[in-house]
Amino acid sequence: MRLTRRRFVQSILGAGAAAGLPVLFSGCNSPSKASASPEGVPAQLLDLSAGGTFPKGFFWGTATASYQIEGAWNEDGKSESIWDRFAHTPGKIKNGDTGDVACDSYHRWREDLDLMRAMNLNSYRFSIAWPRIQPSGSGGVNAKGFDYYSRLVDALLEARIRPLVTLYHWDLPQTLEDAGGWTNRDTAGRFSDYVQLVAQKLGDRVSDWMIFNEPTAFVDLGYLEGTHAPGRASLLDFLRATHVVNLAQGAGFRALKAARPTSRVGTAYSMSSCEPATNSEADKVAAERAHAITNIWFLEPALRGRYPEALTFLPETAMRIQSGDLEKIRAPLDFVGINLYYRIIASATGAIERTTHPQEWLFPVKMDGGQQGPKTGFGWEVWPKALYDMVMRISRDYNRPVIEITESGCSYNDVPDASGAIHDTRRIEYHQGYLAALARSIVDGADVRGYHAWSLMDNFEWADGYSQRFGLTYVDFKTQQRTIKDSGRWYGKVAAENRV
Ligand code: FCB
Repeated sequence: MRLTRRRFVQSILGAGAAAGLPVLFSGCNSPSKASASPEGVPAQLLDLSAGGTFPKGFFWGTATASYQIEGAWNEDGKSESIWDRFAHTPGKIKNGDTGDVACDSYHRWREDLDLMRAMNLNSYRFSIAWPRIQPSGSGGVNAKGFDYYSRLVDALLEARIRPLVTLYHWDLPQTLEDAGGWTNRDTAGRFSDYVQLVAQKLGDRVSDWMIFNEPTAFVDLGYLEGTHAPGRASLLDFLRATHVVNLAQGAGFRALKAARPTSRVGTAYSMSSCEPATNSEADKVAAERAHAITNIWFLEPALRGRYPEALTFLPETAMRIQSGDLEKIRAPLDFVGINLYYRIIASATGAIERTTHPQEWLFPVKMDGGQQGPKTGFGWEVWPKALYDMVMRISRDYNRPVIEITESGCSYNDVPDASGAIHDTRRIEYHQGYLAALARSIVDGADVRGYHAWSLMDNFEWADGYSQRFGLTYVDFKTQQRTIKDSGRWYGKVAAENRV
């Protein structure tokens, strides 16, 4: 079983083009060869080429994360994070890259703000590095670390750009990992203390918050696959971390609301529309399981106080679920953040596969990427309708919640031409397609308030180091010079006109 993208991408790459996989325009519940999306829109009628306009006041933004852009890994009292430790461990990151300097945004944030201004943006999603705020993972605030974010927030507000703050985008203080990290129940309490501190300090100016970035991804890659920090590879750790992170989501939500009752609080979930590979009942069940694990493993606990029902069985003892916990994991979020890049094709696993490994037995589903759309530099399939399907499904299943697209984007390694310009046409096509699909979902009834392109600029792409460029801005990592790509200029026009 592969839970999240980075691993299943490898399996796609290894698999090559798969014969007999779905034809265009299918949806999560409908078999891939059917001609209608699950929401009943005939696939042929979903014409995305027309583009669309967005509601007044729509948020046009970009997203970044502290470890991926800040650098200054040991400055001004910041302590070591699990990503510092992981990246400094030989063999963990492609080419031995680290985030020690990254885009040096800790020192160059004013330049980054100028980029946003040049692109006419009115929202900026960035994350706070917990080890800058509370170097030992508990106790009082490190004033210098806090000042950095405080200045950034002030400058954003002055530029009329909404700060959308992620409280945790994967850089846990290493001291907390040494005490068990996300598998230790105490970490949920530490996290809510940290949230309370940040809310007290910044909540007078920041009103929109995200508790976590992609809990499924960091729990899967960090605790089950071991390809991300802290690099553990254990099913038991994965199950325990799942529940502690859900407890932290609930506790963090309550801490924020207690400190700032009028704040708007969400989480950014990694999501992929899940299509059954064939018409068979078994594959349809597999698609529902894929949806449960990939998309709502942390959302269902927040909104409904329970784990998704599509799984075969919940290992409550292994997860260390205690009585009263289902109340504690509830977090009635004000909005649902969706990070979406591609779709998943799900198929049933055979009886033999299920007995080969405990995780195959617990989550019996095979997940692959689609093979029909063009591929990005990372090998991810470009499939705009995945965004439409996902937004429609969340709208339908959770009673039309407020949705923000908190990330979407693509890696292409276009470089400057002789004149210094970066003609990244494929990135323009990507965002054009995904935005047209989003506009259509709004027409069809979804309450979507914003779109954040990943990313403002090229940056440190986790285990892949600097080998994948996702930015609307090109960064020369030798000189730290920033150059807005053609896609950034195009996006600026879209933001100004509020339409694609
Ligand atoms: C997402 C992460 C983000 C970035 C993009 C490409 O999963 O949230 O930090 O790495 O993928």
